[in-house]
Amino acid sequence: MRGLSVRSILLIVGGGIAAYKSLELVRRLAERGIRTRAILTSAGAEFVTPLSLSALTGDKIYSDLFSLTDEAEMGHIQLSRSADLVVVAPATADLMAKLANGLANDLASTTLLATDKKVLMAPAMNVRMWESAPVKRNRAQLEKDGVLFVGPNDGEMACGEFGPGRMAEPLEIVAAIEKALAVDGALKGVRALVTAGPTREPVDPVRFLANHSSGKQGYAIAEALARAGADTTLVSGPVSLTPPQGVKLMRVTTAREMLAACEAALPADVLVMAAAVADWRPDIAANSKIKKSADRPQDARSAAEENRVPLIKLVENPDILATLAAHAARPRLVIGFAAETDDVVANAVAKRGRKGADWIIANDVSGDVFGGARNQVHLVSESGVEDWPDMTKSEVGARLAARIAEKLKGAA
Ligand code: C5P
Repeated sequence: MRGLSVRSILLIVGGGIAAYKSLELVRRLAERGIRTRAILTSAGAEFVTPLSLSALTGDKIYSDLFSLTDEAEMGHIQLSRSADLVVVAPATADLMAKLANGLANDLASTTLLATDKKVLMAPAMNVRMWESAPVKRNRAQLEKDGVLFVGPNDGEMACGEFGPGRMAEPLEIVAAIEKALAVDGALKGVRALVTAGPTREPVDPVRFLANHSSGKQGYAIAEALARAGADTTLVSGPVSLTPPQGVKLMRVTTAREMLAACEAALPADVLVMAAAVADWRPDIAANSKIKKSADRPQDARSAAEENRVPLIKLVENPDILATLAAHAARPRLVIGFAAETDDVVANAVAKRGRKGADWIIANDVSGDVFGGARNQVHLVSESGVEDWPDMTKSEVGARLAARIAEKLKGAA
């Protein structure tokens, strides 16, 4: 596996029963190659021990503003700047109030004031506290100051009450972190071309051949690329999704239209072919609806032989990925998808060579990937195979955008 440029967060664990979920959060981040350094507030230390947090981060835990040893190793200013993002989970009413009002009397609050990085808060508190006027005021102020929030969720709380106040689940916080890490203009000036959804190949004016692609993964990728600053064109087959903000959308129906739209959208720096292009189309699309024979055939085969059901002859569609990979205006980075049901990685490795793509994102579609919100993929590149954990499609998009930025920066 190639060395990812390490992304890191500074996690501030406040005092609340939800602090135990922060341990799980650190594990989930580590799976994704995101390193965590942690500050544990004194209230937080009532709920999780420095030892368990330290075992998971693989680092010492910072908790004392006036510790001579801590300050000598990594002072609060350096601590606040060394990470790509500061995450507060659980974010207590106290931590929110301190940051909203510029108070700094311990390591966590001092670090929050001193940081030049974005701050993401995952609040957790009793429902009445969350709905109290001071907390609402502080939240509004923090949002105005650019602080990001994830949660809280509705649900039963440890105190027995019901309502908003439960800290977001670790995987939701991970998704918010991936999103926050991607919004940094890393792809400013980059032209991205993304395809998504199925193609429809007409049989006659009312019938077509298509597939189960929902377009969700391609749309999530286009959204992540645009968010990271890329000038993004999305060529989409027929889907029922809202186009992502800031993306230029070109709607197409057939594979041949998709190819023409992609060629018209060139030049591009990066191409992501996430569309499930139909491999074949009927050689002739009838101009008027093909009529059913009056008397119903016993079985299709004999009926076809007797010319009572139409035989559809299929011809091959152009391979858009291969065509663009061999194009005079070939994008610098050509990325294809391989939806497989067997030998997922081996097939993807072969496909990479056959199609002339730089990377192939392989996914196993034997489960419920089509139309679902999650995806588990493998990135097959020039330097081997990266197995990505099971993630939401939007996380796959954010992570791919980060890898594209890294690759294009490295090649610039
Ligand atoms: O060969 P297969 O269909 O599995 O390849 C999948 C990859 O090739 C996807 O990236 C898909 O968008 C692209 N493709 C294409 N044109 C086709 C068929 C697939 O660009 N006709």
